[in-house]
Amino acid sequence: MKFCTAVQFALWFISLRGASAQSSPEWGQCGGIGWTGPQACATGMICTVINPYFFQCLPGASTSPITSTPISTPPTSIPPSSTAPSSSAPSSTPSAGCSTPSTISGYSNAALPNPFLFNDGSAVKTQADWTCRRAQISALIQGYEAGYLPPKPQTLTGSVTRSGSTGTLSFTASNGGTSVSFSSTITYPSGTAPTAGWPLIIAYEGGSIPIPAGIAVLNYANSNMAQQNDASSRGVGTFYNLYGKSANASAMTAWVWGVSRIIDILEETPSAQINTQRIGVTGCSRDGKGALMAGAFEERIALTIPQESGSGGDAGWRLSLFEQNSGLLFKLPPRSFRKMSGLVPNSQIMSTI
Ligand SMILES: *[C@@H]1O[C@H](CO)[C@@H](O)[C@H](O)[C@H]1NC(C)=O
Repeated sequence: MKFCTAVQFALWFISLRGASAQSSPEWGQCGGIGWTGPQACATGMICTVINPYFFQCLPGASTSPITSTPISTPPTSIPPSSTAPSSSAPSSTPSAGCSTPSTISGYSNAALPNPFLFNDGSAVKTQADWTCRRAQISALIQGYEAGYLPPKPQTLTGSVTRSGSTGTLSFTASNGGTSVSFSSTITYPSGTAPTAGWPLIIAYEGGSIPIPAGIAVLNYANSNMAQQNDASSRGVGTFYNLYGKSANASAMTAWVWGVSRIIDILEETPSAQINTQRIGVTGCSRDGKGALMAGAFEERIALTIPQESGSGGDAGWRLSLFEQNSGLLFKLPPRSFRKMSGLVPNSQIMSTI
């Protein structure tokens, strides 16, 4: 998306300036693990710890200055060697006794809910417990906010054709007598495919992060799956042509459905030379929120890279509002920090409202 490109440019520019100047400008980086640039800020700014990797120059008045304990030791733990998820991975189907209501009558919690408590307040203790708790959270998100995510449709057929480094994945889905078709372009790396196939990034609207060599990229036209223009585009797109304009799935939920169908086809099409154990998803801004939803709802995604998904994305919605009210947040457009119900321009994308 254009916004993301502009932001990347701005950040890049700031970091270039920061590296050569004695002090960082407003919003510039001033410390963090691995940072070798200036640690001082321009006049009136205070170097503030955003996270261990990123200290930022923020206007002085509303923030507390950084204490003299910079974190200088990078994490030393080595990630486990990469092995494909084995067939003994926990089942994603909760046991029969797992109750997954889509709403909880009378529920009220002014604090951040503990995800490791079941709806009835008992503790999650085992992996099987988590399978059930996960299903509970999924049902609640769909019931309260994201709308209903349909399973694989009655009929799904598809193919991947290839011409040089360009592939075309197409599928046709049918449900209750209605059919829709959708296609996406895959750009393959050069060279011989690994035996298990290439890793793949599914990139919402093409994505806007650099993709390392040796990884195939699927350009996911998620706006065709479900439009995201404004309130008038609610219910418009391939997903709604299949499930009806009044389907209560938000656009982000419809996008997840499309990602799942793409993975279905890849699994059924070994000649596509994609390693379905090595699928990542990315997107930026609204599409970052969308990528996060795909990673949360589609268990076959191994890596989720939400870029700048912001409030309503990977930032805790309540914390964002709290921080806004405390004057602690970046000064992005105010709409980024409205309550969910006030997020009018995005409501058709994010929620069932
Ligand atoms: C959303 O749609 C699903 C499927 O039609 C339905 O089961 C569910 O009750 C609907 N949710 C709301 C909040 O209307």
